[in-house]
Amino acid sequence: MAKPNHAFLAACRREHSSYTPVWLMRQAGRYMEEYRKLRAQYDFLELCKKPDLAAEITITPVERLGVDAAILFADILLVLEPMGVGLEYSKNGGPVIHHPVRSGKDVDNLKDFDPQQELSFVYDAVKKISKTLKNKVPLIGFAGAPFTLASYLIEGGGSRNYVHTKKLFYGTPEAWKRLMERLAKVVAEYLNCQIAAGAEAVQLFDSWAGCLTPTDYEQFVLPYTKAVIDAITPGVPVIHFSTGTAGLLKQIRAAGGDVIGLDWRVNLDEGWGMLGHDVAVQGNLDPVALFASPKDIKARVADVLRRADGRPGHIFNLGHGVLPETPVDHVIAMVDAVHEMSSR
Ligand code: CP3
Repeated sequence: MAKPNHAFLAACRREHSSYTPVWLMRQAGRYMEEYRKLRAQYDFLELCKKPDLAAEITITPVERLGVDAAILFADILLVLEPMGVGLEYSKNGGPVIHHPVRSGKDVDNLKDFDPQQELSFVYDAVKKISKTLKNKVPLIGFAGAPFTLASYLIEGGGSRNYVHTKKLFYGTPEAWKRLMERLAKVVAEYLNCQIAAGAEAVQLFDSWAGCLTPTDYEQFVLPYTKAVIDAITPGVPVIHFSTGTAGLLKQIRAAGGDVIGLDWRVNLDEGWGMLGHDVAVQGNLDPVALFASPKDIKARVADVLRRADGRPGHIFNLGHGVLPETPVDHVIAMVDAVHEMSSR
């Protein structure tokens, strides 16, 4: 059930609330002892595929940190597995795609699948979480944006320069288009299934869009991200997240989203000014700031809040995910500082 007066959903809609809502990307993860304990017993993909465990991992940080939203425990790369490319999370954590896509033929050989059926374990987790969180905090569903997913499919894992990805759109734009259209369709269906199961907002992660020129973004990425956002169930807020995109904000905004993610490489007031105040923003503390003393963390939180200037439509977050070595008590100090200093 929607909780219309909740601070997080109010901020998504640029409505006033009595304090600035806060949550953290990767709030469920390796920096938490509870997660590491479960992770010692199960493989990462196993955790994602067991709805009871995924629900437990999602809810633990909400209770422990006092954040204003839960984010589903899953991964952006889960949608790639049913395409038959051989997804694996290596022992040191980095994802690997065993059969990367490098040509038009590879694109056409990707398996077609029904996201409603093949990813049902995700919706089962969403249902369980929604039931537990009822009247507490909203649940955010998520997916990777077509570009970031394509980059993993094509590079076969993480990348520094995205050479294979860019070569595909430079050299075979038709194959690129076919790939991006397929990803956009799968991602939109996947997100709408999460919403049908109970997710109250969704975040689209375009984590690596910052490697693109504005012109390439406009031509090779924007239409597909826009297609996903336009296809989301009406009334459900969409958070459009990316990093390193201070030079692409105009294009990111044009692709859509009710809330735009800002990372720490741009001052929040300047980024918001460039986007326009008719859209909400999320961010933008440097994740490494959480390694500073609680006193310094508080000062940096104060700076972000000062730049947001009490305007409705600010969701406090980091500019990217919590790092694995982050002290949990520093994360709690940050959440408390946001609540205390933004109280109005
Ligand atoms: O708490 C949450 O934010 C929810 C769960 C979540 C995970 N991944 C769990 C995870 C979310 C929202 C993601 C998104 C995700 N996954 C992104 C977009 C956000 C970003 O960080 O840019 C990306 C690029 C991925 C792909 C991915 N998954 C990578 C690169 C890695 C390994 C390195 C890393 O950053 O951890 C993963 C594995 C992963 N996904 C872990 C977790 C908790 C660690 C797995 C482990 O326990 O070993």
